[in-house]
Amino acid sequence: MPDPHPRPPVAHALITGGAGFVGSHLAERLLGAGMCVTVVDDLSTGRDANLAAVEADPRLRIVRADAHDPDVLADCVPADGVVFHLAAPVGLHRVLERPDRIILDGVAGIDAVLDAAATAGARVVFTSSSEVYGKRDRMPLTESDDLALGPPARARWGYALMKASQEAIALARHRRGEVAVVVARLFNVVGPRQTGRYGMVVPRFIRRALAGEPLLVHGDGSQTRTFLHVLDAVDALVALADHPDAPGDVYNIGGDTEISIHELARQVVAATDSASAIRTLPYADAYPEGYEDVPRRRPDTSKLRALTGWRPRRALPLGATIAPRPLT
Ligand SMILES: NC(=O)c1ccc[n+]([C@@H]2O[C@H](COP(=O)([O-])OP(=O)(O)OC[C@H]3O[C@@H](n4cnc5c(N)ncnc54)[C@H](O)[C@@H]3O)[C@@H](O)[C@H]2O)c1
Repeated sequence: MPDPHPRPPVAHALITGGAGFVGSHLAERLLGAGMCVTVVDDLSTGRDANLAAVEADPRLRIVRADAHDPDVLADCVPADGVVFHLAAPVGLHRVLERPDRIILDGVAGIDAVLDAAATAGARVVFTSSSEVYGKRDRMPLTESDDLALGPPARARWGYALMKASQEAIALARHRRGEVAVVVARLFNVVGPRQTGRYGMVVPRFIRRALAGEPLLVHGDGSQTRTFLHVLDAVDALVALADHPDAPGDVYNIGGDTEISIHELARQVVAATDSASAIRTLPYADAYPEGYEDVPRRRPDTSKLRALTGWRPRRALPLGATIAPRPLT
């Protein structure tokens, strides 16, 4: 039956963290679809250069500012539009240094985003993370699973605690009818513009393989992950933003092929035709105290697929299209 109150298509979007890896691809997608896009980014891990392909587009506004600042948000959240809240302190080293700050800023930040969205009548798509599943060992991971986080005393869990707290705040405010929110739990996303500076494994491996340096596999390399092309992740975020039944719920977004980190290293060496050796590095030498790794992570994406028809469409051409950036 046709919707008796069809919503007009959303014409304006705000992307917090839009100069980052995922955010810049999302900005390109939305502009390509004819939308007006505002990016708010403090360039803590993002770069102006990520938006080079679209910076001359008159429908793009780039604001260099803290996306948690209520005054900035009041100015930038579009009335009746959509907010993609991607801004987050990315990178394990930052989390290990200041887990307290990360949690406090993340919680205050999403509350400010939700306040501004509620006032403007905008919907929010919030990018959470597979990190919230913690150490769960039963795969695949489904959105209704209990979380299995390690002890808060271990700094490593600060990021998961932040994301889980943000989810709880967003969903509570949705339930009270204040603002429509979709929670998207991203698993490992890869693609052009991802940097290895903050510890992301694929660009780190590729840079080393191209330089002929040894690839350093942390632990014994038997830990597995799935990887998803960034354009498939963007497809999913847009589909969730557009779907009228998505708000108020949590959706996994991730790839479906599990690969060990040792095998990933082997494939990167092969794809780049590199002579690099693959070496293992004990966790104790790779990270400061407080770190513990997770042996497996594979998402169940059937909920997202059933609602939106989404499925990953791109192969992961390791080495060929993932252009690494220098570790400056
Ligand atoms: N890439 C992945 O594999 C992955 C996996 C799980 C979750 N995520 C989530 O997806 C989102 C995007 O991640 P990404 O991989 O593109 O990382 P990224 O570091 O490239 O992007 C984050 C962006 O947010 C900006 N930022 C951080 N704090 C800010 C603040 N207070 N105000 C304004 N801008 C701020 C950074 O400068 C950066 O441009 C994040 O929320 C991240 O937690 C990503």
